[in-house]
Amino acid sequence: MCGIVGYVGEEQCAALLVEGLRKLEYRGYDSAGVAVLGDKGLAVVRAKGKLANLEKRLGESMPQGATGIGHTRWATHGKPSDENAHPHKYGGVAVVHNGIIENHLELKEALISAGHKFSSETDTEIFAHLIQEEIEKGLRLPEAVRAALHNVRGTYALAVVSEKFPDMLVVSKNASPLVVGLGEDCNFVASDVPAILAHTRDVIYLEEGDFAVITKQGVELTDKSGHKLSRGVKRIEWTPTMAEKNGHKHFMHKEIHEQARALTDTIRGRASVEEGDVYLDGCRLDGKLVQRLTKVQIVACGTSWHASITGKLMIETLAKIPVEVDLASEFRYRDPLIDSNTLCIAVSQSGETADTLGSFREAKARGARTLAICNVVGSAIAREAEDVLYTHAGPEIGVASTKAFTTQLAAFFLLAVRLGRLRGTLSAAAAQRYLQALNEVPMLVDRVLKYEDVIKQAAHKFSQARDLLFLGRGPQYPVALEGALKLKEISYIHAEGYAAGEMKHGPIALIDENMPVMVLAPRDSDEEAGVNYEKILGNIQEVRARGGRVIAIHSEGDTKVPALAEACIPLPQTNPLLMPIVSVIPTQLFSYHVADHRGTDVDQPRNLAKSVTVE
Ligand code: F6R
Repeated sequence: MCGIVGYVGEEQCAALLVEGLRKLEYRGYDSAGVAVLGDKGLAVVRAKGKLANLEKRLGESMPQGATGIGHTRWATHGKPSDENAHPHKYGGVAVVHNGIIENHLELKEALISAGHKFSSETDTEIFAHLIQEEIEKGLRLPEAVRAALHNVRGTYALAVVSEKFPDMLVVSKNASPLVVGLGEDCNFVASDVPAILAHTRDVIYLEEGDFAVITKQGVELTDKSGHKLSRGVKRIEWTPTMAEKNGHKHFMHKEIHEQARALTDTIRGRASVEEGDVYLDGCRLDGKLVQRLTKVQIVACGTSWHASITGKLMIETLAKIPVEVDLASEFRYRDPLIDSNTLCIAVSQSGETADTLGSFREAKARGARTLAICNVVGSAIAREAEDVLYTHAGPEIGVASTKAFTTQLAAFFLLAVRLGRLRGTLSAAAAQRYLQALNEVPMLVDRVLKYEDVIKQAAHKFSQARDLLFLGRGPQYPVALEGALKLKEISYIHAEGYAAGEMKHGPIALIDENMPVMVLAPRDSDEEAGVNYEKILGNIQEVRARGGRVIAIHSEGDTKVPALAEACIPLPQTNPLLMPIVSVIPTQLFSYHVADHRGTDVDQPRNLAKSVTVE
């Protein structure tokens, strides 16, 4: 996720801004920059790559001034490059922005028609143009920013400076975090506390729609419509390391809790409930191309492979195209049947996994059309693909994948709806219902996170288990696989995921009083009456009859499953194809709390690497 820092005061601020950005490095970034406002006007210095590159440029000509903004960018629109790095300047205005502008294409078109010239591929540059236009009409900077925001749909944490209004930062927040720091004869803004902790521990957390004018004398807060606000000042007692994790003990825990926001960022601007369709920026799949597809071939590894098995269900259900899912390490060496009527989808958080990249190239060489579902802009797999559907999870630092998985599922769902609409297998009315359900998922994810205490109790109760079995049916089967992978990789407890119906063909021999079994048993939704719930009740009975201890993940309000379980974790209900996004959360939290209780290195488990760039 990108980082923001801003300063207004009496000191030369370029070096201070870079120091602040350094404290945000842990968030991951691919370019950085600062804009400094001084007697000689507004100077912007930016560089692709690490902060050292930016420092080198600053060393050549250090901008002078005591008002400034800085940014570390993690690409979402446009590749990592000097031009796409923030701050973006237009006229006398410079802007840094975290988040995603949904309507950037239409805004950009309108600005281009009005004669504006753009110098980057980013959505952010639009802000600089819109604000400068308003200033030229005679507005002051705060009013100009407010007027520009009026036209923008999306998520943002924004900080703006203008040559015409020196000694002032104007900032606003909508769904991306922003915090104001209070100093002596100076004030700060940042996307995250560590950036300013060396200078102040007194902060104001901005809330949705908040707008602030920051000068060295003070901070004036207003709401969306300009009414004055007062927000409490918080004293931060965290150590710098705690601050990096936003108060969470581990990055994995932080990332589990970021999932509602990551999902919102992945869905926003793509799913149109009104039109019953999906707009996939970066994918040029048209009706003719999609009609001639005879097969979808997915390649992936690990957690991304689990997301792909769910993706198969989504595509086959909504778009009625046969889908094969292969482990990338196997696909490459099995002489696969691929031709120009195949769409090959590579799924990878990092976009650098060697086996996935190798398989993707193999499919491409055999004539397949290639599409990547990927979290890192400009990564090797994204570069290799003809079409890219980016997940907007933000950087994942914990080695065990969490928010990357759930956003991959959301991306698959969007793709399946789009393919269904293009092939005519999904009516607009049906797509509207599916997209409405998708839009509600982030809220359901937040609701599950509220059950963390219940999940933690269950985790502590079973934390000394030697083995653990995860069972699920239908859409819950990949969740069982993912739950088992998460538990084994961070707690080192041996765990297996199984399709519940497969249990009697072997694994049932393992069941006794020493074998806890986590069963994913949400009710089937009324809308698509299924058999999974009734069947899984039978599977739970099979476990109990052999003395097994059941941990049940069940629908809120259900009484049948809890009556059969030793530990129960409730869940809200949604469409079965979307349920995995919700039901995987308790398995992530369960694994996290088991591992934390056992004292393992949760964020960097032994023997594992975040990007597996070797075969
Ligand atoms: C597990 C995990 C791994 C990755 C796998 C593929 O928590 O993170 O199994 O999913 O190494 O990585 P990507 O998605 O980067 O290709």
